[in-house]
Amino acid sequence: MAATSLTAKALTSHLAQVFAQYPIEVAHGEGVWLYARDGRKILDFYGGHAVAGLGYGHPHWLAALERQARQMAFQTNAVGVAIREHAAARLAKFADLGLDTVFWINSGAEANENALKLAFKQTGRGKAVALEQGWHGRTAAAGAVTWGALHTWYGFPRTPFDASFAPRNDPAAVERFVDRDTAAVIVEPVQGVGGAYDVGKPMLQALRRRCDEVGALLIFDEVQCGMGRTGSPFAANHHGVTPDIITTAKALGNGFPVSALLLSKHVAKHIKYNDMGTTFGGGPMACAAAEAVIETIESESLLANVRQVSAYIRSNCIVGPITGSQGAGFLLGLKTSRPAKEVQAALLEKNILTGTSGDPNVLRLLPAYILNEGHVDQLCDALVKIPA
Ligand SMILES: Cc1ncc(COP(=O)(O)O)c(C=O)c1O
Repeated sequence: MAATSLTAKALTSHLAQVFAQYPIEVAHGEGVWLYARDGRKILDFYGGHAVAGLGYGHPHWLAALERQARQMAFQTNAVGVAIREHAAARLAKFADLGLDTVFWINSGAEANENALKLAFKQTGRGKAVALEQGWHGRTAAAGAVTWGALHTWYGFPRTPFDASFAPRNDPAAVERFVDRDTAAVIVEPVQGVGGAYDVGKPMLQALRRRCDEVGALLIFDEVQCGMGRTGSPFAANHHGVTPDIITTAKALGNGFPVSALLLSKHVAKHIKYNDMGTTFGGGPMACAAAEAVIETIESESLLANVRQVSAYIRSNCIVGPITGSQGAGFLLGLKTSRPAKEVQAALLEKNILTGTSGDPNVLRLLPAYILNEGHVDQLCDALVKIPA
């Protein structure tokens, strides 16, 4: 769908042409609705790639940002600011996993880069293990643990460490991959790009057990599946498996760039000055955004809404070209009988925006947590009209 509109734009744009484009241009957003320049009103099941957890223009988030901008828009980490400490406490409490030390940073890839670096520093080992179909970002370390990156877009002359990729659904194979040279295992508990695929509790438990046996750190990359998207604070809560480090981003700021590492006590106690650093991470605006997101999720009971509406999608949207579903909460994959790109294009013609994934037969839904059953009915009505 995307490549067609790219060509004409590429001739006049000052932007680096690295993103395939949806054939729409958005003027503004409100709740779960996008208003396009051509007058169309589009129901958004894509959420800016899992970022707009509260939807667009949420009043509590807007007010928090405005208040913080007036009070103190930015201050370096070398100078204490109450909101930084306060938001960290709030995030740790929200997670409720005993991962009570927070390091603020800016993006998902940067969070993973730092989590991996901590694992290498603390274990003194040289190898990481990731899962097939996993996706962790485009920087040197995050790309090195991203399935398929090396043979496609990676670009650096070599990776900074050895990485191997275990099957995502084979707990019995874990022992073969994770050994005493392994510094870290990094895994998305519910894979995003991999097709909204829930790795599942048995696999996560096997990874936890093996990491404990060999002394490797277990990192959950919850950049996409965290911050309420599964209907629990984190997928770690959802599956009842606690890693040593969680990385999270995307919905954490609802559009204001912010990411975080949540660290266990035994990781935190070995951290020394200069182990990590950042200029913008922990900026007051980013922290105010994250705090407002957590407050809103809690005050509007959005986790319960995600669980309820997700179940409604799964029981009502298996119609037209949709043959089944996978994933968790609002990181849902709808399996398609024909290429998902075609279904996505047909839905957009009916003013519904969805995502695709690395699996050509999975349509990915990443809506805002405020989505309701009425919105889902509109998706179902549109799907029914698309030939299987
Ligand atoms: C699971 C996962 N990890 C990491 C990243 C990278 O995040 P960012 O683009 O903020 O660097 C993404 C982005 O899509 C992601 O889905």
